[in-house]
Amino acid sequence: MADPWQTAYDFAVQVARAAGAVRKKNEPRPTSPTLTPEPRANALLFVQVIRKAGEEEIKIQTKSSAVDLVTKTDERVEKIIIGSLKEQFGDGTHCFIGEESVSKGEACILTDKPTWIIDPVDGTTNFVHGFPFVAVSIAFAVNKQLEFGVVYSCLEDKMYKARRGQGAFCDDEQIQVSDVKDINKSIIISEHGTDRSIEKVTKIFSTMQKILRIPVHGLRGSGTAATNMCLVASGAVEAFFEIGIHCWDIAAGAVIVQEAGGLILDVDGGPFDLMSRRMMSANNDVIARRIIKEIELFPVVRDDAP
Ligand code: IPD
Repeated sequence: MADPWQTAYDFAVQVARAAGAVRKKNEPRPTSPTLTPEPRANALLFVQVIRKAGEEEIKIQTKSSAVDLVTKTDERVEKIIIGSLKEQFGDGTHCFIGEESVSKGEACILTDKPTWIIDPVDGTTNFVHGFPFVAVSIAFAVNKQLEFGVVYSCLEDKMYKARRGQGAFCDDEQIQVSDVKDINKSIIISEHGTDRSIEKVTKIFSTMQKILRIPVHGLRGSGTAATNMCLVASGAVEAFFEIGIHCWDIAAGAVIVQEAGGLILDVDGGPFDLMSRRMMSANNDVIARRIIKEIELFPVVRDDAP
């Protein structure tokens, strides 16, 4: 049977690259031969948006808490990505879940319809501060199953991508999770998210303390979940977990980790649920289960809660 989603996959890779391109002055504009004129114009506009944002003062607003940041760049970039995708696939059969559209009140429901799940700027806090890890994350699901994921780590200029059943790649090189099974030889990533209530911060740091005391080689965090998952997929770290994360932060990374030979679970060891805001990604079951033993759970509101 012909591969129904190859065009969508190829297009997502181009849109993510164009979206996250940070050009130095006088560098030629990226061109993408297969983009139709309109999306290509949009993609180039995106380049200008990111560039301009780098040159000007970044206007910051807050969302769920005083440390949950959003910039005009996030909003404009999401509009451009979704606009480009709609021009190609907007015949009414595809749905779109985007971080900024949801925060403005659009529904965050995963149905059986082909659905694009987008984080235009994963690592907004990094972006605001110039901490050099920012990613564009685009995933695609059909019948609630993730078909592909694309993460463009803009400042590293690394394109991570994976299609279900076809392996995971960084640029054109196939990537694989690490083969470490000894927890004492692992590096683990955990982030603390944007909820600063004393109950949650206490649990997060108590979990981190217990993991450090196992002991592991180290605890890390890049400030972007999408990039963290690509670090698991490429074998730089053994696991990344977070409670309080959103579907757009992790959808693309989930495909990339699985296709690199890793696994995605719930933080209690049960099956992964994209809308649950809980995620454990690891190179193997031994590492995942050992970390899960230390995780102190706390409640979060699901992404698809009414
Ligand atoms: C955030 C990043 C961060 C994670 C937060 C996310 P954003 O996404 O992925 O690593 O810890 O939970 O909200 O807001 O920068 O797109």
